[in-house]
Amino acid sequence: MTGMQLTGPKQQLFNADIRQRLDSWLAKYPAWQSQSAVIPALHILQAENNGWLSEAIMDALSVYLDMPAISVYEVATFYTMFDLKPVGKHKLNVCTNISCLLNGSEEIVAHLEQRLNIGLGETTQDGKYTLRQVECLGACCGAPMMQIDRDYHENLTTEKLDKILDGLDQ
Ligand code: FES
Repeated sequence: MTGMQLTGPKQQLFNADIRQRLDSWLAKYPAWQSQSAVIPALHILQAENNGWLSEAIMDALSVYLDMPAISVYEVATFYTMFDLKPVGKHKLNVCTNISCLLNGSEEIVAHLEQRLNIGLGETTQDGKYTLRQVECLGACCGAPMMQIDRDYHENLTTEKLDKILDGLDQ
């Protein structure tokens, strides 16, 4: 775990680089509302920890933001953009909600499962991909769509999908 020491005084919880980035978010809010920075803070810590959040990291963040640990867990467990167990290098989030379902998301999921030889919720043996279905990602006009890491890919076909994955495999 890079740069995170998860016990000790508040200023020692994270390294200087992480503290600087957390503090830049804290500076956007009144001092008594530090918990308002919880979502960007979770993004920073997740990126520093190979894409997922451990309980120890969330506990340390709760101390850093002066908020109850349970409140950090509530946020981290509510959003599918946060992962609470190790994940692959690339996160493949396929929307299977109504617009995407009506426009072929089942075919997209089946193609990914076959190509990667894993099911939904699983990670490839080489640790490269984690495949998941997610609820509406707010890009219904581009259905069927999926999110790969931080990027949206819309109007998917199996051919288009193969090209995208070929690019990631380079
Ligand atoms: S239903 Fe898929 S993005 Fe909205």
